[in-house]
Amino acid sequence: MFKESILLGKETEMGDMVRIEADRSQRILVCGKTGTGKSYSLGVCIEELANIGSNIILVIDPQGIFWTMAEANTVPDEVDGLWDFDRSPRGFPLNLMVPGDPVERFGDPEIPAEMEKRGIQVQSLRLNPSDLTPEMWCDLFDLDINELRGIMLFKAVRQCKRRLGRDFLIDDISAEVDRLKGLDKTKEAVQRRLDMAQDWQIFAEDQYREIWEILRPDQINVLDLSVIAQGRYGLRNLVIAVLANFIFRKRTIARRREALGLPSDTRKVWLVIDEAHNFCPSGKSTLSKEILIRWAKEGRQPGLSLIVASQQPAAIDREILTQCGIRIVHRITSKDDFQAVNALSQDYLTDGLHAQIKRLTGPGQTLMIDDARETVVRTQVRPRQSLHGGGSA
Ligand SMILES: Nc1ncnc2c1ncn2[C@@H]1O[C@H](COP(=O)(O)OP(=O)(O)O)[C@@H](O)[C@H]1O
Ligand SMILES: [Mg+2]
Repeated sequence: MFKESILLGKETEMGDMVRIEADRSQRILVCGKTGTGKSYSLGVCIEELANIGSNIILVIDPQGIFWTMAEANTVPDEVDGLWDFDRSPRGFPLNLMVPGDPVERFGDPEIPAEMEKRGIQVQSLRLNPSDLTPEMWCDLFDLDINELRGIMLFKAVRQCKRRLGRDFLIDDISAEVDRLKGLDKTKEAVQRRLDMAQDWQIFAEDQYREIWEILRPDQINVLDLSVIAQGRYGLRNLVIAVLANFIFRKRTIARRREALGLPSDTRKVWLVIDEAHNFCPSGKSTLSKEILIRWAKEGRQPGLSLIVASQQPAAIDREILTQCGIRIVHRITSKDDFQAVNALSQDYLTDGLHAQIKRLTGPGQTLMIDDARETVVRTQVRPRQSLHGGGSA
């Protein structure tokens, strides 16, 4: 048996416990139609990881539903069902990270205040301009780095990094643009974009703050992206890209220190992404896609795990899908999505997967496919200890 594991649920016929190994780094896909229990299953995995308590958990929450994990489940049937799994209802310590100013983002001061009253830590997350590479700055505004405006912005950011290291703000980039040689028209165009970036209110306005210090090892870290529109500039993707890049770099350094026997207090990280097709879509590029692919492909060594959930597995980039050695498949009906899942199948299960997926019915019924163990187990996902958010009003 594994030292550390995620207790996902039990096998539907014999009732054996179904576990996922958690001592080592994993890539897990959770898929199925809307309403089949994907977010719920993610919640179960997060609870299990929090119960283990040895890794940092970062949840990317595009719908703003995971804050309810701070409260105990109160649904009577589910609470009764927990008994079988040796779990009891409870809320978890939760660090809710809100890009920008929480009061402004929620549009109502009573919302964050009430959350705090319920024991949720609500934190403003601001990105450091220096945590974006010059390329990312250009990508953000869709500026080509071979074209005048792109070249200017690229140079200005690079110059800031040279002169000021990591501690610079958008104003410093602006000042650098002013200093550069170039046409006034080009400068104005770049300045307009920088002004716009100020207005988004997701960048640090006073000083550099280590992102690492915002993540809490003893809490579930939830990044609420529902407060920013999935707009033209891909701000949601930007936030993920900056966080993931930062964590990747930190963990790579930590891994090297560990290998050399040097002390390191940088824990391993589980990144959990709901509605993941938005952030690493197949067939188009986004600010976050490159780092997520890298995380999936090269993250094992530095101890980075990934759980992605989507109702459209076919819409997730294949480079990520093919890394998911564990698949938690809820009911699927679309042919494309079935094919996307089936294409990942190894020889041991080419037969009958379709029929097995069709047999899945109620919420929480899944097939747990594990390539390392070469098993397919029909699993009823266990009830939640904490309250599931996400029902519609
Ligand atoms: N394992 C489960 N046990 C009990 N109820 C579940 C389970 N999984 C899902 N549900 C129910 O199904 C509903 C839809 O689940 P949800 O995870 O929000 O769907 P999805 O994310 O796939 O759209 C939830 O509100 C919950 O009541
Ligand atoms: Mg969902």
